[in-house]
Amino acid sequence: MRFEVGGEIATITMDRPGKRNAQTFATWSALARIGRTLPEHVRVVVIRGEGPSFSAGIDLRMFSPEGLPGQGSFASAAALDGETFLARITEAQQGFLWLRRPDIVSIAVVQGHAIGAGFQLALSCDLRILADDAKFCMKEPALGLVPDLTGTKPLVEIVGVAKAVEICLTARNVGAEEALRLGLADRVVPRAQLDEAVGELAAALLTTDRDAAAATKRLLLGAPERTLEEQCAAERAEQAVRLQALFGKAGAEGNG
Ligand code: ACO
Repeated sequence: MRFEVGGEIATITMDRPGKRNAQTFATWSALARIGRTLPEHVRVVVIRGEGPSFSAGIDLRMFSPEGLPGQGSFASAAALDGETFLARITEAQQGFLWLRRPDIVSIAVVQGHAIGAGFQLALSCDLRILADDAKFCMKEPALGLVPDLTGTKPLVEIVGVAKAVEICLTARNVGAEEALRLGLADRVVPRAQLDEAVGELAAALLTTDRDAAAATKRLLLGAPERTLEEQCAAERAEQAVRLQALFGKAGAEGNG
């Protein structure tokens, strides 16, 4: 995994193209560590994968009895006591959850396959830019597992329960054009134009006021859980803080 910061943009690159950026517990720990130590001035986080595919999901060696060197296997995880086992999944999920933080905007840049944990990593980002050869697949049910890396909620929020059921329970590929139609992709471009498209989006995101952007993202993230009345109250509260920051107390009191 590479981590680079250029100005207000941080780029995380999964860099195991020979294994199609297969993910392990070490990948998720590294992601969580990046989240915990992200420099405060970073506003946009870009996640990408080297090589032909974004990520082929969990390293299939986890399914073998010997598992991954130093990280065990599914068999050894299943042998843990219930609490330890759940704590292990909670820890893995930390690698994904921080990408939703209001103070940043996360962008997944997906080419080729994004399977299982790869699809969920893309889903944990706010936005997804796809190459025209991108394919999403929620493979877990085909392997006897459930998707447990934070991907089910954003999937349902984006495509609705019925389509999410169909996509997950068939474990089929969702191509770039369909992903665009379903709202799973914000933009689809030819592969050669991925860098340019990401650069344009990141630059556009950086044109807005940092604190206003964070407050707006907080509002938008909270909206599905709130009633209209609650959301209106949340808008008022956030605006009072904005106006106070911009104009002092008098401005905040005068606004409706
Ligand atoms: N774990 C470990 N190694 C992998 C994985 C993986 N998930 N995916 C690919 N690789 C390795 C292959 O074993 C191969 O290694 P080798 O060159 O040493 O033999 C190398 O990556 C290239 O793989 P190919 O299959 O040759 O690459 P191709 O580009 O043709 O296909 C694809 C890519 C479609 C991603 C295919 O590799 C694949 O289906 N991988 C398995 C996907 C999967 O089932 N993931 C688990 C999802 S469930 C979850 O994430 C919880």
